[in-house]
Amino acid sequence: MIDALRVFEDDAEMIRQAAAEVARLAARAAARRGRFSVALAGGHTPKPLYEALARDHRDAIPWDLVHVFWGDERFVPHDDPRSNFRMAREALLSRVPIPSDQIHPMPTEGLSPGEAARDYEKTLRRHFEGSWPRLDLALLGLGADGHTASLFPGAPALHERRRWVAEALAPDEPRQRLTLTFPVFNHAGHVHFIAGGAGKAEALRCALDPEARPERCPAAGIRPAHGNRVWWLDRAIVRSLPG
Ligand code: 6PG
Repeated sequence: MIDALRVFEDDAEMIRQAAAEVARLAARAAARRGRFSVALAGGHTPKPLYEALARDHRDAIPWDLVHVFWGDERFVPHDDPRSNFRMAREALLSRVPIPSDQIHPMPTEGLSPGEAARDYEKTLRRHFEGSWPRLDLALLGLGADGHTASLFPGAPALHERRRWVAEALAPDEPRQRLTLTFPVFNHAGHVHFIAGGAGKAEALRCALDPEARPERCPAAGIRPAHGNRVWWLDRAIVRSLPG
């Protein structure tokens, strides 16, 4: 596996180039395979990227061939301000002509977390043939503690090798989460992290360390078997790398 670090002084330039790369991957997958399947990241960092995709690439991306999934979700209603689905809907999905039946949010109401995880796995299995889903692109954020998606240090979900979706408990509210598991992310064709700020430098260091233990640094466990990891980073996080 190869790590490609793309470091930018200017956040706007990072977002511009990251959006262009996502659009390129989407157009290439659609041309080659007739569809583009992407798992979106939550949190705050990716929101400008989603807004740039809607603003600058609305006409370039073949939205009729795009299927959107989520890498993780807070177990709150979809209209809750903390919902990853709501953030992506407001920043991107409500602004582009993607068919509504190609938007696949994680279920967060009317089911227990365990039922919701099983239900989402069924959704993924309906979309992907084969023993593991092959996302064309997984977008991921990075927490200061080394978590990514809702794979948190010490969590049982880190050891999941059979299920595609697992329940998770975050240290912060809303604690209940759902997350794709390592095998799903590691079968993706491309994994792109986007992270910034000095506070995440140690998390980046451990994520890049081939000796790091995913138990302590979950982002280090994202190692796509047939792909590479691309890191979209600001100068602050890189400048603060220890050592
Ligand atoms: C979430 C994300 C989570 C996020 C990191 C970074 O649901 O919050 O999936 O993994 O990517 O916590 O969050 P920020 O981008 O807000 O710093």
